[in-house]
Amino acid sequence: MLMGGRRRLCLAAALVLVVVCASATSGDAGVTSAYRRKAEATVDMPMDADVFRVPAGYNAPQQVHITLGDQMGTAMIVSWVTPNELGNNTVMYGTSPEKMEMRAVGTHTRYDYFNYTSGFIHHCTLKNLKHSTKYYYAMGFGHTVRTFWFTTPPKPGPDVPFKFGLIGDLGQTFDSNSTLSHYEENDCGAVLFVGDLSYADNYPLHDNNRWDTWARFTERSAAYQPWIWTAGNHELDYAPEIGEEKPFKPFTHRYPTPYRAAGSTEPFWYSVKIGSAHIVVLASYSAYGKYTPQWTWLHDELATRVDRTQTPWLIILMHSPWYNSNGYHYMEGETMRVSSSSGSSTPRSTSCSRDTNADAPVYVTIGDGGNIEGIADNFTEPQPGYSAFREASFGHATLDIKNGTHAYYAWHRNHDGAKVVADGVWLTNRHNMPTDDA
Ligand SMILES: *[C@@H]1O[C@H](CO)[C@@H](O)[C@H](O)[C@H]1NC(C)=O
Ligand SMILES: *[C@@H]1O[C@H](CO)[C@@H](O)[C@H](O)[C@H]1NC(C)=O
Ligand SMILES: *[C@@H]1O[C@H](CO)[C@@H](O)[C@H](O)[C@H]1NC(C)=O
Ligand SMILES: *[C@@H]1O[C@H](CO)[C@@H](O)[C@H](O)[C@H]1NC(C)=O
Ligand SMILES: *[C@@H]1O[C@H](CO)[C@@H](O)[C@H](O)[C@H]1NC(C)=O
Repeated sequence: MLMGGRRRLCLAAALVLVVVCASATSGDAGVTSAYRRKAEATVDMPMDADVFRVPAGYNAPQQVHITLGDQMGTAMIVSWVTPNELGNNTVMYGTSPEKMEMRAVGTHTRYDYFNYTSGFIHHCTLKNLKHSTKYYYAMGFGHTVRTFWFTTPPKPGPDVPFKFGLIGDLGQTFDSNSTLSHYEENDCGAVLFVGDLSYADNYPLHDNNRWDTWARFTERSAAYQPWIWTAGNHELDYAPEIGEEKPFKPFTHRYPTPYRAAGSTEPFWYSVKIGSAHIVVLASYSAYGKYTPQWTWLHDELATRVDRTQTPWLIILMHSPWYNSNGYHYMEGETMRVSSSSGSSTPRSTSCSRDTNADAPVYVTIGDGGNIEGIADNFTEPQPGYSAFREASFGHATLDIKNGTHAYYAWHRNHDGAKVVADGVWLTNRHNMPTDDA
Protein backbone atom coordinates (compact mmCIF):
# COMPACT_ATOMS: atom_id res chain seq x y z
CA MET A 1 0.00 0.00 0.00
CA LEU A 2 1.25 3.42 -0.81
CA MET A 3 0.60 5.82 1.97
CA GLY A 4 0.18 9.49 1.62
CA GLY A 5 -1.00 9.47 -1.94
CA ARG A 6 2.04 11.13 -3.36
CA ARG A 7 4.90 9.35 -4.87
CA ARG A 8 7.83 11.51 -5.58
CA LEU A 9 11.06 10.00 -6.66
CA CYS A 10 13.73 12.56 -6.72
CA LEU A 11 17.05 12.19 -8.34
CA ALA A 12 18.99 13.80 -5.62
CA ALA A 13 22.68 13.54 -5.68
CA ALA A 14 24.15 10.83 -3.61
CA LEU A 15 27.09 12.17 -1.83
CA VAL A 16 26.52 9.89 1.06
CA LEU A 17 23.94 7.21 1.30
CA VAL A 18 22.90 6.85 4.88
CA VAL A 19 20.99 3.71 5.66
CA VAL A 20 19.35 3.59 8.99
CA CYS A 21 17.01 1.19 10.54
CA ALA A 22 14.74 3.14 12.75
CA SER A 23 13.27 1.23 15.57
CA ALA A 24 11.32 1.68 18.70
CA THR A 25 13.10 3.30 21.54
CA SER A 26 12.25 2.49 25.11
CA GLY A 27 10.48 5.82 25.36
CA ASP A 28 7.73 4.83 23.00
CA ALA A 29 7.40 1.19 23.99
CA GLY A 30 3.79 1.74 24.99
CA VAL A 31 2.88 3.19 21.63
CA THR A 32 4.53 0.31 19.90
CA SER A 33 2.74 -2.39 21.78
CA ALA A 34 -0.69 -0.76 21.46
CA TYR A 35 0.02 -0.47 17.80
CA ARG A 36 1.17 -4.06 17.47
CA ARG A 37 -2.21 -5.42 18.43
CA LYS A 38 -3.84 -3.48 15.66
CA ALA A 39 -1.34 -4.20 12.96
CA GLU A 40 -1.32 -7.15 10.69
CA ALA A 41 -0.25 -9.99 12.95
CA THR A 42 3.09 -11.54 12.27
CA VAL A 43 4.19 -14.57 14.21
CA ASP A 44 7.47 -16.27 14.76
CA MET A 45 8.04 -19.52 13.00
CA PRO A 46 7.68 -22.38 15.50
CA MET A 47 10.72 -24.12 16.94
CA ASP A 48 10.08 -27.15 14.71
CA ALA A 49 9.94 -25.08 11.48
CA ASP A 50 11.95 -26.51 8.61
CA VAL A 51 14.26 -23.48 8.50
CA PHE A 52 15.39 -24.13 12.08
CA ARG A 53 16.27 -27.75 11.52
CA VAL A 54 19.53 -28.92 13.05
CA PRO A 55 21.82 -30.34 10.37
CA ALA A 56 22.17 -34.11 10.42
CA GLY A 57 25.20 -35.84 11.89
CA TYR A 58 26.95 -35.92 15.24
CA ASN A 59 28.23 -32.50 16.28
CA ALA A 60 27.50 -31.14 12.79
CA PRO A 61 28.53 -27.49 12.35
CA GLN A 62 25.44 -25.29 12.35
CA GLN A 63 24.63 -21.57 12.17
CA VAL A 64 27.40 -21.03 9.65
CA HIS A 65 27.89 -17.40 8.64
CA ILE A 66 30.62 -15.26 7.17
CA THR A 67 31.59 -11.62 7.32
CA LEU A 68 34.55 -9.70 5.94
CA GLY A 69 37.74 -10.27 7.92
CA ASP A 70 39.58 -7.15 6.82
CA GLN A 71 38.91 -3.82 5.19
CA MET A 72 39.93 -4.70 1.66
CA GLY A 73 38.03 -7.93 1.03
CA THR A 74 40.98 -10.33 1.21
CA ALA A 75 39.95 -12.02 4.45
CA MET A 76 36.75 -13.69 5.58
CA ILE A 77 35.69 -14.62 9.10
CA VAL A 78 33.87 -17.95 9.17
CA SER A 79 31.70 -18.61 12.23
CA TRP A 80 29.80 -21.72 13.23
CA VAL A 81 28.47 -23.53 16.26
CA THR A 82 29.03 -27.12 17.32
CA PRO A 83 26.38 -28.35 19.73
CA ASN A 84 27.79 -31.47 21.38
CA GLU A 85 31.50 -30.94 21.86
CA LEU A 86 34.18 -28.51 20.84
CA GLY A 87 35.32 -30.53 17.86
CA ASN A 88 37.94 -29.43 15.38
CA ASN A 89 38.50 -25.70 14.94
CA THR A 90 40.06 -25.99 11.49
CA VAL A 91 38.59 -24.62 8.28
CA MET A 92 39.97 -26.16 5.09
CA TYR A 93 39.47 -24.09 1.94
CA GLY A 94 40.45 -23.74 -1.67
CA THR A 95 39.20 -22.73 -5.08
CA SER A 96 37.68 -26.09 -5.94
CA PRO A 97 35.65 -28.47 -3.78
CA GLU A 98 38.11 -31.25 -4.56
CA LYS A 99 41.10 -29.20 -3.53
CA MET A 100 40.50 -27.49 -0.23
CA GLU A 101 44.15 -27.59 0.68
CA MET A 102 44.58 -24.37 2.56
CA ARG A 103 43.93 -24.38 6.27
CA ALA A 104 43.10 -21.88 8.96
CA VAL A 105 42.70 -22.64 12.64
CA GLY A 106 40.07 -20.73 14.55
CA THR A 107 39.24 -19.91 18.13
CA HIS A 108 36.14 -20.70 20.08
CA THR A 109 34.01 -19.11 22.73
CA ARG A 110 30.92 -19.90 24.81
CA TYR A 111 28.68 -17.84 26.99
CA ASP A 112 25.96 -18.26 29.58
CA TYR A 113 22.84 -16.16 29.59
CA PHE A 114 20.75 -16.64 32.73
CA ASN A 115 20.18 -20.41 32.59
CA TYR A 116 21.09 -20.83 28.92
CA THR A 117 24.51 -22.09 27.87
CA SER A 118 25.55 -21.63 24.28
CA GLY A 119 27.10 -24.29 22.09
CA PHE A 120 30.75 -24.03 21.08
CA ILE A 121 30.95 -20.91 18.95
CA HIS A 122 33.83 -21.00 16.48
CA HIS A 123 35.40 -18.10 14.60
CA CYS A 124 38.10 -18.64 12.04
CA THR A 125 39.62 -16.01 9.75
CA LEU A 126 40.70 -17.03 6.26
CA LYS A 127 43.41 -14.62 5.13
CA ASN A 128 45.30 -13.66 1.98
CA LEU A 129 42.36 -14.44 -0.26
CA LYS A 130 42.30 -13.27 -3.86
CA HIS A 131 39.66 -10.77 -4.93
CA SER A 132 36.63 -11.83 -7.01
CA THR A 133 37.43 -15.48 -6.43
CA LYS A 134 35.13 -18.33 -5.51
CA TYR A 135 36.34 -20.32 -2.53
CA TYR A 136 34.97 -23.53 -1.09
CA TYR A 137 35.36 -24.10 2.61
CA ALA A 138 34.63 -26.90 5.02
CA MET A 139 34.68 -27.53 8.76
CA GLY A 140 33.61 -30.18 11.25
CA PHE A 141 36.54 -32.53 10.69
CA GLY A 142 36.54 -35.63 12.83
CA HIS A 143 32.77 -35.89 12.96
CA THR A 144 30.43 -34.31 10.45
CA VAL A 145 32.02 -32.24 7.70
CA ARG A 146 29.97 -29.56 5.94
CA THR A 147 31.08 -27.65 2.86
CA PHE A 148 30.06 -24.14 1.75
CA TRP A 149 31.37 -21.51 -0.66
CA PHE A 150 31.62 -17.77 -1.16
CA THR A 151 33.01 -15.33 -3.68
CA THR A 152 35.32 -12.64 -2.38
CA PRO A 153 34.43 -9.06 -3.29
CA PRO A 154 36.25 -7.32 -6.11
CA LYS A 155 39.34 -5.24 -5.45
CA PRO A 156 38.18 -1.80 -4.34
CA GLY A 157 38.44 0.84 -7.03
CA PRO A 158 36.72 3.97 -8.32
CA ASP A 159 34.42 2.36 -10.91
CA VAL A 160 33.97 -1.16 -9.56
CA PRO A 161 30.35 -2.38 -9.73
CA PHE A 162 28.80 -4.25 -6.84
CA LYS A 163 25.26 -5.11 -5.85
CA PHE A 164 24.34 -4.98 -2.18
CA GLY A 165 21.30 -6.22 -0.34
CA LEU A 166 19.92 -4.00 2.41
CA ILE A 167 18.04 -5.76 5.17
CA GLY A 168 17.05 -4.65 8.63
CA ASP A 169 14.85 -5.82 11.48
CA LEU A 170 14.71 -9.32 10.12
CA GLY A 171 13.57 -11.44 13.05
CA GLN A 172 12.28 -14.96 12.50
CA THR A 173 8.63 -14.70 11.54
CA PHE A 174 7.02 -16.21 8.45
CA ASP A 175 7.47 -12.78 6.89
CA SER A 176 11.18 -12.89 7.70
CA ASN A 177 11.35 -16.10 5.75
CA SER A 178 9.73 -14.58 2.68
CA THR A 179 11.98 -11.55 2.93
CA LEU A 180 15.03 -13.80 2.91
CA SER A 181 13.65 -15.94 0.08
CA HIS A 182 12.96 -12.87 -2.03
CA TYR A 183 16.34 -11.45 -1.23
CA GLU A 184 17.99 -14.66 -2.40
CA GLU A 185 16.42 -14.26 -5.84
CA ASN A 186 18.53 -11.16 -6.38
CA ASP A 187 22.05 -11.62 -7.46
CA CYS A 188 23.72 -9.67 -4.67
CA GLY A 189 27.23 -10.10 -3.35
CA ALA A 190 26.81 -9.02 0.26
CA VAL A 191 24.18 -7.92 2.74
CA LEU A 192 24.39 -4.63 4.56
CA PHE A 193 22.44 -5.55 7.66
CA VAL A 194 21.21 -2.52 9.57
CA GLY A 195 20.53 -4.16 12.89
CA ASP A 196 17.96 -6.17 14.85
CA LEU A 197 18.76 -9.77 14.08
CA SER A 198 16.95 -12.45 16.04
CA TYR A 199 14.53 -10.63 18.36
CA ALA A 200 15.30 -13.30 20.96
CA ASP A 201 14.82 -10.56 23.53
CA ASN A 202 11.09 -10.64 22.87
CA TYR A 203 11.01 -13.98 24.68
CA PRO A 204 10.96 -14.58 28.43
CA LEU A 205 14.54 -14.58 29.75
CA HIS A 206 15.61 -13.45 26.24
CA ASP A 207 15.47 -17.12 25.32
CA ASN A 208 18.82 -17.48 23.61
CA ASN A 209 17.68 -20.61 21.82
CA ARG A 210 16.10 -18.05 19.50
CA TRP A 211 19.56 -16.74 18.67
CA ASP A 212 20.41 -20.29 17.60
CA THR A 213 17.26 -20.69 15.51
CA TRP A 214 17.87 -17.34 13.83
CA ALA A 215 21.38 -18.30 12.84
CA ARG A 216 20.20 -21.65 11.47
CA PHE A 217 17.50 -19.84 9.52
CA THR A 218 19.85 -17.28 7.97
CA GLU A 219 22.64 -19.77 7.24
CA ARG A 220 21.23 -20.38 3.77
CA SER A 221 22.40 -16.89 2.79
CA ALA A 222 24.92 -15.85 5.43
CA ALA A 223 27.17 -18.88 4.88
CA TYR A 224 27.54 -18.00 1.19
CA GLN A 225 28.04 -14.25 1.16
CA PRO A 226 29.28 -11.81 3.77
CA TRP A 227 26.71 -10.06 5.89
CA ILE A 228 27.99 -6.76 7.27
CA TRP A 229 26.58 -6.38 10.77
CA THR A 230 25.23 -3.31 12.50
CA ALA A 231 24.11 -3.57 16.12
CA GLY A 232 20.51 -2.63 16.85
CA ASN A 233 18.58 -2.25 20.05
CA HIS A 234 17.48 -5.88 19.92
CA GLU A 235 21.14 -6.85 20.19
CA LEU A 236 21.50 -5.16 23.58
CA ASP A 237 20.14 -8.06 25.65
CA TYR A 238 20.61 -5.93 28.72
CA ALA A 239 18.49 -7.50 31.47
CA PRO A 240 19.69 -6.60 34.96
CA GLU A 241 16.50 -8.09 36.40
CA ILE A 242 17.89 -11.52 35.58
CA GLY A 243 21.51 -10.61 36.26
CA GLU A 244 22.47 -9.95 32.64
CA GLU A 245 24.19 -6.60 32.81
CA LYS A 246 26.71 -6.86 30.02
CA PRO A 247 25.17 -5.33 26.91
CA PHE A 248 25.47 -7.12 23.56
CA LYS A 249 26.59 -10.40 25.14
CA PRO A 250 24.97 -12.84 22.66
CA PHE A 251 25.67 -10.57 19.67
CA THR A 252 29.37 -10.09 20.38
CA HIS A 253 29.98 -13.76 21.06
CA ARG A 254 28.23 -14.79 17.88
CA TYR A 255 28.84 -12.06 15.30
CA PRO A 256 32.43 -10.84 15.00
CA THR A 257 33.28 -7.78 12.90
CA PRO A 258 36.62 -6.70 11.38
CA TYR A 259 36.84 -3.66 13.63
CA ARG A 260 40.53 -3.92 14.42
CA ALA A 261 41.42 -3.87 10.74
CA ALA A 262 39.45 -0.63 10.57
CA GLY A 263 41.39 0.97 13.40
CA SER A 264 38.42 0.79 15.74
CA THR A 265 38.51 -0.17 19.39
CA GLU A 266 35.07 -1.76 19.61
CA PRO A 267 33.23 -4.25 17.40
CA PHE A 268 30.23 -1.94 17.04
CA TRP A 269 31.80 0.71 14.82
CA TYR A 270 34.12 -0.04 11.93
CA SER A 271 34.40 0.21 8.17
CA VAL A 272 34.99 -1.97 5.12
CA LYS A 273 35.55 -1.27 1.45
CA ILE A 274 33.64 -3.20 -1.15
CA GLY A 275 33.94 -2.31 -4.82
CA SER A 276 33.64 1.45 -5.18
CA ALA A 277 31.99 1.83 -1.77
CA HIS A 278 33.44 2.75 1.58
CA ILE A 279 31.03 1.44 4.17
CA VAL A 280 31.02 2.91 7.65
CA VAL A 281 29.11 1.09 10.37
CA LEU A 282 28.14 3.19 13.35
CA ALA A 283 26.84 2.21 16.77
CA SER A 284 23.64 3.89 17.86
CA TYR A 285 23.83 2.28 21.30
CA SER A 286 27.39 3.16 22.19
CA ALA A 287 28.48 6.60 23.28
CA TYR A 288 28.90 8.93 20.31
CA GLY A 289 29.22 12.37 21.82
CA LYS A 290 32.15 14.59 21.05
CA TYR A 291 35.54 13.06 21.97
CA THR A 292 34.10 9.66 22.77
CA PRO A 293 36.07 6.79 21.18
CA GLN A 294 33.43 6.39 18.50
CA TRP A 295 33.41 10.09 17.69
CA THR A 296 37.18 10.19 17.51
CA TRP A 297 37.31 7.13 15.30
CA LEU A 298 34.68 8.51 12.92
CA HIS A 299 36.37 11.87 12.83
CA ASP A 300 39.66 10.25 11.79
CA GLU A 301 37.90 7.90 9.42
CA LEU A 302 36.25 10.73 7.50
CA ALA A 303 39.26 13.01 7.70
CA THR A 304 41.99 10.59 6.76
CA ARG A 305 40.81 7.15 5.71
CA VAL A 306 37.90 7.75 3.39
CA ASP A 307 39.32 8.32 -0.07
CA ARG A 308 36.55 9.36 -2.42
CA THR A 309 38.84 9.13 -5.43
CA GLN A 310 39.15 5.39 -4.79
CA THR A 311 35.76 4.68 -3.25
CA PRO A 312 33.41 7.45 -4.41
CA TRP A 313 30.39 5.90 -2.69
CA LEU A 314 30.25 6.50 1.02
CA ILE A 315 27.63 4.43 2.78
CA ILE A 316 26.87 4.93 6.44
CA LEU A 317 24.96 2.21 8.25
CA MET A 318 23.36 2.80 11.59
CA HIS A 319 20.41 1.41 13.36
CA SER A 320 18.78 4.42 14.82
CA PRO A 321 18.72 7.89 13.35
CA TRP A 322 20.56 10.43 15.41
CA TYR A 323 17.99 13.12 14.99
CA ASN A 324 18.62 14.56 18.38
CA SER A 325 22.33 14.41 18.21
CA ASN A 326 24.54 17.17 17.07
CA GLY A 327 27.57 15.35 18.37
CA TYR A 328 28.59 14.25 14.95
CA HIS A 329 30.13 16.85 12.99
CA TYR A 330 29.43 15.46 9.62
CA MET A 331 25.77 15.90 10.45
CA GLU A 332 26.25 19.48 11.46
CA GLY A 333 24.77 21.81 8.94
CA GLU A 334 22.97 18.99 7.28
CA THR A 335 19.83 20.67 6.17
CA MET A 336 17.88 17.55 5.53
CA ARG A 337 16.00 15.49 8.00
CA VAL A 338 14.18 12.65 6.45
CA SER A 339 11.84 10.52 8.39
CA SER A 340 8.44 9.20 7.75
CA SER A 341 6.87 8.36 10.99
CA SER A 342 5.91 9.76 14.27
CA GLY A 343 8.65 8.14 16.22
CA SER A 344 7.24 4.69 16.74
CA SER A 345 8.70 1.68 15.03
CA THR A 346 9.41 3.01 11.58
CA PRO A 347 9.32 0.40 8.92
CA ARG A 348 10.96 2.09 6.05
CA SER A 349 10.83 4.98 3.81
CA THR A 350 12.92 5.66 0.86
CA SER A 351 13.49 9.27 0.98
CA CYS A 352 15.52 11.67 -0.97
CA SER A 353 16.18 15.22 -0.31
CA ARG A 354 14.74 17.71 -2.72
CA ASP A 355 17.12 20.16 -1.28
CA THR A 356 19.34 21.58 -3.97
CA ASN A 357 22.26 21.53 -1.59
CA ALA A 358 24.77 19.39 -3.44
CA ASP A 359 26.18 18.04 -0.24
CA ALA A 360 22.95 16.52 0.95
CA PRO A 361 23.17 12.80 1.42
CA VAL A 362 20.45 10.43 0.39
CA TYR A 363 18.85 9.01 3.46
CA VAL A 364 17.16 5.64 3.43
CA THR A 365 15.25 4.21 6.33
CA ILE A 366 14.70 0.51 6.07
CA GLY A 367 13.68 -1.79 8.81
CA ASP A 368 11.07 -4.23 7.90
CA GLY A 369 12.57 -7.58 7.27
CA GLY A 370 9.67 -9.16 9.04
CA ASN A 371 10.05 -8.56 12.74
CA ILE A 372 7.38 -9.65 15.15
CA GLU A 373 6.60 -6.14 16.26
CA GLY A 374 4.49 -5.74 13.19
CA ILE A 375 4.37 -3.24 10.43
CA ALA A 376 4.29 0.42 11.29
CA ASP A 377 1.91 2.11 8.92
CA ASN A 378 1.11 5.15 10.95
CA PHE A 379 2.81 7.72 8.77
CA THR A 380 2.56 11.40 9.31
CA GLU A 381 -0.13 12.97 7.15
CA PRO A 382 0.14 14.70 4.82
CA GLN A 383 3.35 13.18 3.55
CA PRO A 384 6.14 15.67 4.11
CA GLY A 385 7.73 17.22 1.07
CA TYR A 386 11.08 15.68 1.75
CA SER A 387 9.71 12.16 1.79
CA ALA A 388 9.92 10.57 -1.61
CA PHE A 389 8.28 7.27 -1.04
CA ARG A 390 7.03 5.33 1.89
CA GLU A 391 5.25 2.12 2.23
CA ALA A 392 4.31 -0.06 5.13
CA SER A 393 5.18 -3.50 3.96
CA PHE A 394 7.80 -6.11 4.62
CA GLY A 395 10.65 -6.55 2.22
CA HIS A 396 14.24 -5.73 1.46
CA ALA A 397 16.17 -3.33 -0.73
CA THR A 398 19.02 -3.59 -3.16
CA LEU A 399 21.67 -1.06 -4.02
CA ASP A 400 23.20 -1.80 -7.38
CA ILE A 401 26.32 0.28 -7.84
CA LYS A 402 27.08 0.35 -11.55
CA ASN A 403 30.19 2.48 -11.56
CA GLY A 404 31.60 5.59 -9.95
CA THR A 405 28.70 7.76 -11.01
CA HIS A 406 25.53 5.65 -11.08
CA ALA A 407 23.75 3.37 -8.66
CA TYR A 408 20.23 2.02 -8.67
CA TYR A 409 18.37 1.69 -5.39
CA ALA A 410 15.31 -0.56 -5.39
CA TRP A 411 12.78 -1.61 -2.80
CA HIS A 412 11.40 -5.14 -3.13
CA ARG A 413 8.10 -5.77 -1.50
CA ASN A 414 7.05 -9.12 -0.08
CA HIS A 415 3.96 -10.60 -1.68
CA ASP A 416 5.28 -9.43 -5.01
CA GLY A 417 7.77 -11.56 -6.81
CA ALA A 418 11.24 -10.42 -5.85
CA LYS A 419 11.64 -9.05 -9.33
CA VAL A 420 8.82 -6.59 -8.74
CA VAL A 421 10.30 -3.35 -7.60
CA ALA A 422 7.93 -1.22 -5.57
CA ASP A 423 10.22 1.75 -5.48
CA GLY A 424 13.32 2.45 -7.46
CA VAL A 425 15.56 5.43 -7.96
CA TRP A 426 18.78 6.20 -9.77
CA LEU A 427 21.38 7.79 -7.59
CA THR A 428 24.19 9.81 -9.03
CA ASN A 429 27.39 10.47 -7.24
CA ARG A 430 28.15 14.08 -6.46
CA HIS A 431 31.77 13.39 -5.92
CA ASN A 432 32.14 12.38 -9.53
CA MET A 433 29.27 14.39 -11.01
CA PRO A 434 29.44 17.68 -9.16
CA THR A 435 27.43 19.56 -11.75
CA ASP A 436 24.59 17.08 -12.13
CA ASP A 437 21.58 18.48 -10.41
CA ALA A 438 18.97 16.31 -12.04
C1 LIG B 1 10.83 -20.72 4.33
O1 LIG B 1 11.14 -20.44 2.97
C2 LIG B 1 11.74 -21.55 2.29
C3 LIG B 1 12.16 -21.07 0.92
O2 LIG B 1 11.16 -20.37 0.29
C4 LIG B 1 10.74 -22.70 2.26
O3 LIG B 1 11.35 -23.81 1.65
C5 LIG B 1 10.37 -23.06 3.69
O4 LIG B 1 9.40 -24.09 3.68
C6 LIG B 1 9.83 -21.85 4.43
N1 LIG B 1 9.60 -22.21 5.80
C7 LIG B 1 8.60 -21.71 6.52
C8 LIG B 1 8.49 -22.19 7.94
O5 LIG B 1 7.81 -20.90 6.09
C1 LIG C 1 15.37 -21.70 32.41
O1 LIG C 1 14.41 -21.18 33.28
C2 LIG C 1 13.08 -21.15 32.74
C3 LIG C 1 12.18 -20.45 33.73
O2 LIG C 1 12.34 -20.97 35.01
C4 LIG C 1 12.63 -22.57 32.43
O3 LIG C 1 11.36 -22.55 31.83
C5 LIG C 1 13.62 -23.22 31.48
O4 LIG C 1 13.28 -24.58 31.26
C6 LIG C 1 15.02 -23.14 32.06
N1 LIG C 1 15.96 -23.62 31.04
C7 LIG C 1 16.96 -24.41 31.36
C8 LIG C 1 17.85 -24.80 30.23
O5 LIG C 1 17.15 -24.83 32.48
C1 LIG D 1 41.50 -30.97 12.39
O1 LIG D 1 41.18 -31.24 11.05
C2 LIG D 1 42.26 -31.01 10.16
C3 LIG D 1 41.73 -31.19 8.74
O2 LIG D 1 41.25 -32.48 8.54
C4 LIG D 1 43.41 -31.95 10.50
O3 LIG D 1 44.48 -31.70 9.61
C5 LIG D 1 43.84 -31.71 11.92
O4 LIG D 1 44.84 -32.63 12.29
C6 LIG D 1 42.64 -31.84 12.86
N1 LIG D 1 43.04 -31.43 14.18
C7 LIG D 1 42.86 -32.21 15.23
C8 LIG D 1 43.32 -31.63 16.54
O5 LIG D 1 42.35 -33.29 15.15
C1 LIG E 1 -0.66 7.56 14.79
O1 LIG E 1 0.27 8.55 15.20
C2 LIG E 1 -0.36 9.70 15.80
C3 LIG E 1 0.70 10.75 16.03
O2 LIG E 1 1.79 10.22 16.76
C4 LIG E 1 -1.07 9.26 17.10
O3 LIG E 1 -1.69 10.36 17.70
C5 LIG E 1 -2.09 8.20 16.74
O4 LIG E 1 -2.69 7.71 17.91
C6 LIG E 1 -1.45 7.05 15.98
N1 LIG E 1 -2.47 6.11 15.51
C7 LIG E 1 -2.38 4.80 15.71
C8 LIG E 1 -3.48 4.00 15.12
O5 LIG E 1 -1.44 4.28 16.30
C1 LIG F 1 27.77 4.32 -15.42
O1 LIG F 1 26.59 3.57 -15.34
C2 LIG F 1 25.47 4.20 -15.95
C3 LIG F 1 24.26 3.36 -15.66
O2 LIG F 1 24.44 2.03 -16.04
C4 LIG F 1 25.73 4.39 -17.44
O3 LIG F 1 24.63 5.05 -18.03
C5 LIG F 1 27.00 5.20 -17.61
O4 LIG F 1 27.31 5.30 -18.98
C6 LIG F 1 28.15 4.55 -16.88
N1 LIG F 1 29.30 5.40 -16.94
C7 LIG F 1 30.44 4.99 -17.46
C8 LIG F 1 31.56 5.96 -17.46
O5 LIG F 1 30.56 3.86 -17.92
